[in-house]
Amino acid sequence: MDKFLITGGRRLEGNVAISGAKNAALPAMTAALLTDQRVILKNVPRVRDISTLRSLLEDLGVDSSVTHEAHGNRIEIEARQLLNPVAPYELVKQMRASVLVLGPLVARFGQARVSLPGGCAIGVRPINLHLKGLEKLGATISFDHGYVNARADRLRGTDFYFDTTSVTGTENLMMAATLADGTTVLENAAREPEVQDLADLLNKMGAQIEGAGTHKIQIRGVARLQGAEHTVIPDRIEAATFLTAAAITGGELVVDRCHPEHLTSVLAKLEEVGVQVIRGAGQGSNGGPTLAFKAGNKLRALDVTTQVYPGFPTDMQAQYMALMTQAEGSSVITETIFENRFMHALELARMGADITVNGRRAVVRGKTPLSGAEIQASDLRASASLVLAGLAAEGETLINRVYHIDRGYERIEEKLTRVGAQIVRISESD
Ligand code: EPZ
Repeated sequence: MDKFLITGGRRLEGNVAISGAKNAALPAMTAALLTDQRVILKNVPRVRDISTLRSLLEDLGVDSSVTHEAHGNRIEIEARQLLNPVAPYELVKQMRASVLVLGPLVARFGQARVSLPGGCAIGVRPINLHLKGLEKLGATISFDHGYVNARADRLRGTDFYFDTTSVTGTENLMMAATLADGTTVLENAAREPEVQDLADLLNKMGAQIEGAGTHKIQIRGVARLQGAEHTVIPDRIEAATFLTAAAITGGELVVDRCHPEHLTSVLAKLEEVGVQVIRGAGQGSNGGPTLAFKAGNKLRALDVTTQVYPGFPTDMQAQYMALMTQAEGSSVITETIFENRFMHALELARMGADITVNGRRAVVRGKTPLSGAEIQASDLRASASLVLAGLAAEGETLINRVYHIDRGYERIEEKLTRVGAQIVRISESD
């Protein structure tokens, strides 16, 4: 298993180009199951979760091809027919987002058999709302041998209220409803940019979706969908991770190929903490505005509470905690989305951070010097926070199990090295 060896204490400086969003590319790939025509996705990040989903789609009998492009990959997917509507445990256990095949399969093929995802490092993460919504759309749901089965001749439009706002829940039901008989209204739906991006793709495929990006989404079902070409949005969490890396090293970065408007809550918080943000500093290589970022001399400790979009994202909580270890004063971090998302706190404490965790609240006292140590990643975003801590620490930090970070960050060590970090990947074979 690969490791990262980081020598800390270097200020980051330069330009970094953001990859496409993993959490937009994954649902977009499953949307291709809704049509027998070709769906072409561009700006797809080269991360492990994308390869895992591609294996699952091929397992289902879908044809796909990948071409390397200047920015990300181009993936062509054609679900002309289906060998078997089964998402096996071996693949689903690697990536919970595999559950996103459920809605499209039952909507187009009338049946789906998907392994139940099981537990996760950051929380219980049930899929009860996905299933409740499919049942409301007229599917028959049953369970056996660790699998959920969904069956329906044709789904029927309905009204569904999410007791808890769910990102992939919204995406699954939105996809399923595109081929339902009649109109579906999803209330208390997720508003994340990735949900909006999926709706944009589906509408290009001939769906009739309105209201994506709000808590109320209306989907008028159609008989069939066609192929389409779509460029996936940039990864706002990757962009925010790099901005936090600049802040924790007292650096200066120009972030290219991102959508600053997707980062409002994060930028507002980082500005309050004491960094200078220049939006639209220049024109990026994707024609969009760049984001320039200059860390101040001092970081102020500030509380944060994670929320659904457009609030402060839970996927930035760990990185923000690492930053707060280098801020003057105490900060309270409240995690409202997942019940067990402070695994990184113990590893940061091993590097010298002063953190007390109590249920869904953590108190960070700073500024505390961090010293390099051998540490272990537990999940995708926790591993990103450990990389940030390693960049700020005195001496060498060795991070084990970086396969977690490869799931969602495209060659992060290369991008960091280009802006002045000293980080090397140590592979088992080295
Ligand atoms: C998506 O996960 C993201 N994953 C996660 O990113 C992200 O942390 C999360 O949204 C929240 O923003 C993808 O998009 C692939 P939820 P998802 O359903 O959809 C509860 C990363 O690091 N819930 O919005 O699985 C659930 O337990 C990953 O890239 C139910 O109770 O999250 C949680 O407490 C990690 N029943 C809350 O809702 C359900 O049926 C929000 O979860 C569904 C969810």
